[in-house]
Amino acid sequence: MNKKLKQLFFKGANFLGVEFPIMGGAMTWISESSLVSATSNAGGFGVIAAGSMNRDQLQKEIIVTKSKTTKPFGVNLILLHPEIESLIEACVDNKVDLVVFAGGFPKLRQIQKLKKNKIKTVCFATTVSIAQKMVNYGVDALILEGNEAGGHIGPVSINVLVQEILPQIVEVPVFVAGGIGRGEIFLKYLELGAAGCQIGTRLVCSNESIAHQNFKEIFIKSEARNCQISVRLDKRFPVIPVRAIENKASEKFIEEQKRVINLLDKSSISLKEAQLQVEHFWAGSLKKAVIDGDIDNGSLMAGQSVSLVKKMQSVKEIINEIVKQAEKQISNEKRVSNEKK
Ligand SMILES: Cc1cc2nc3c(=O)[nH]c(=O)nc-3n(C[C@H](O)[C@H](O)[C@H](O)COP(=O)(O)O)c2cc1C
Repeated sequence: MNKKLKQLFFKGANFLGVEFPIMGGAMTWISESSLVSATSNAGGFGVIAAGSMNRDQLQKEIIVTKSKTTKPFGVNLILLHPEIESLIEACVDNKVDLVVFAGGFPKLRQIQKLKKNKIKTVCFATTVSIAQKMVNYGVDALILEGNEAGGHIGPVSINVLVQEILPQIVEVPVFVAGGIGRGEIFLKYLELGAAGCQIGTRLVCSNESIAHQNFKEIFIKSEARNCQISVRLDKRFPVIPVRAIENKASEKFIEEQKRVINLLDKSSISLKEAQLQVEHFWAGSLKKAVIDGDIDNGSLMAGQSVSLVKKMQSVKEIINEIVKQAEKQISNEKRVSNEKK
């Protein structure tokens, strides 16, 4: 590998215990043993998406993943999960290498429990103060995820997060995510001080991803502009921002909100009932699209980097491609600078 890239990779690769500091972003229903082991076997760092799994299902997934790779991998836990504490215990009992906390910010005791058992902890940071609070809690690394990403997103782009938070955090490695599809941009984030990146959308169409063929095909056909943030029609409803490829379900969601607003305004239903009906709309919809292949009625969670997904490839090819692009960028810059001399 190019010497400069090796140097830039050192911090993140050393932290993760891998060759390339590229984390496979956990994707509910998609990031299971096949994709996770393929990512780790390709020199990256795979992460199981625990999603709505219960303790037994997670334990089984960890054991199966371990049978497919001897390389390190992690588990992504959604903090809102009603059985979060027993999922943390499953990670401890099964000695995973690392836990990524998502959907909120971990409590001090949750971080300490994992650290006491020599499991690295990672969480997302959306502001400098949250990043500092998490570092003070003892978190081992942070992820900055821009709202270019697929799935549940924050309000800020990666371009701003790297300016706002990255220079302020020196204590722990910081990984960047959201809209990363090629090596050239990855290189630039490394040069700005990132330890590595996390990619999700780019891995959906890998040969090893178990996503339904229909789900993969719509990714290959889609452009960045097709990936929109879920629309909230009324401030009274807590619609969680999700970036997904627009389909019939996104249109129906708007119609459903109009219907519920109408009932609420006529006092035909309570605010709580209205909120539940809106919240309920997307329940089970990612599984419907990813597993059943219902791309009209399911949720097509995808990031803007979907426009860089052009074909089916193995995870190894995708990771190698990103690394090669970063290397080529370094050589191009070197050549241009030599020509100027
Ligand atoms: C279909 C899909 C499902 C996702 N599910 C999760 C999840 O369960 N937990 C999580 O922390 N992030 C989830 N994400 C976000 C990814 O882990 C990753 O951070 C994101 O995809 C990175 O941005 P990119 O899609 O632009 O590469 C999901 C993303 C997608 C596309």
